[in-house]
Amino acid sequence: MKKILGGVKGRGAAAPDGEKQAAILATGSVLRSFLGERWKMFGGIFLTAGLIVQLIPVPGENVSAAAPERSMETHLPMPEPVKTVFDKACRDCHTNGTVWPWYGRVAPMSWMLAHDVNRARAAVNFSEWTTQSGRTPAKAIATLAAACANMQSGRMPLKGYQLMHPESRLSANEIGIFCEWTKEQTKALILAKRRSPGAGQP
Ligand code: HEC
Repeated sequence: MKKILGGVKGRGAAAPDGEKQAAILATGSVLRSFLGERWKMFGGIFLTAGLIVQLIPVPGENVSAAAPERSMETHLPMPEPVKTVFDKACRDCHTNGTVWPWYGRVAPMSWMLAHDVNRARAAVNFSEWTTQSGRTPAKAIATLAAACANMQSGRMPLKGYQLMHPESRLSANEIGIFCEWTKEQTKALILAKRRSPGAGQP
């Protein structure tokens, strides 16, 4: 069997394969002659450094306890289909309710993820609706419009996130559901503002 496969493979690809193998072997022997017995030392250093690095705390991972009275969901009614879209595509970065994946607990990956989440929360944190992104009706309306626009343009969720969380890739239909909701909420906010001018202003 091996012979047959070898024969088939060898027909077209023998030369490049052989070159590749030779290159790999050459690199191997250069590395070996350079490292000699030192590979054990280098391996040990990498392993130790990799473990020590895990002890460095991840900035921003632990946020204050959940405060539902400040969150967007408490202030804007969110039907289930809208919540589904929001939960799978935005929640991990733009709320305090981030679910960290296992690789998100291993440095240096954890630092990169925490960096994104911190930047995301600084821009828009839906868990801090009354204190940040929805603090005034005008701010709430702008946040809703930006959320829909970023979804439509495909800027959000971030590409890297979509890669690791395939379920966060939104269909045109899902984006439509979310955007329709932002428009309804915007209308409601404008009406509420007309009814009681000054409401929600700090
Ligand atoms: C992987 C993390 C991540 C996910 C998931 C994510 N975002 Fe973001 N978002 C960011 C980061 C980081 C920023 C700030 C930097 C920037 O604007 O690129 C940001 C910024 C924003 C902004 C402000 C940008 C502006 O135009 O001012 C909005 C609005 C936003 N995101 C909406 C969303 C929505 C809606 C979703 C869900 C569909 C989402 N994001 C999912 C990371 C994320």
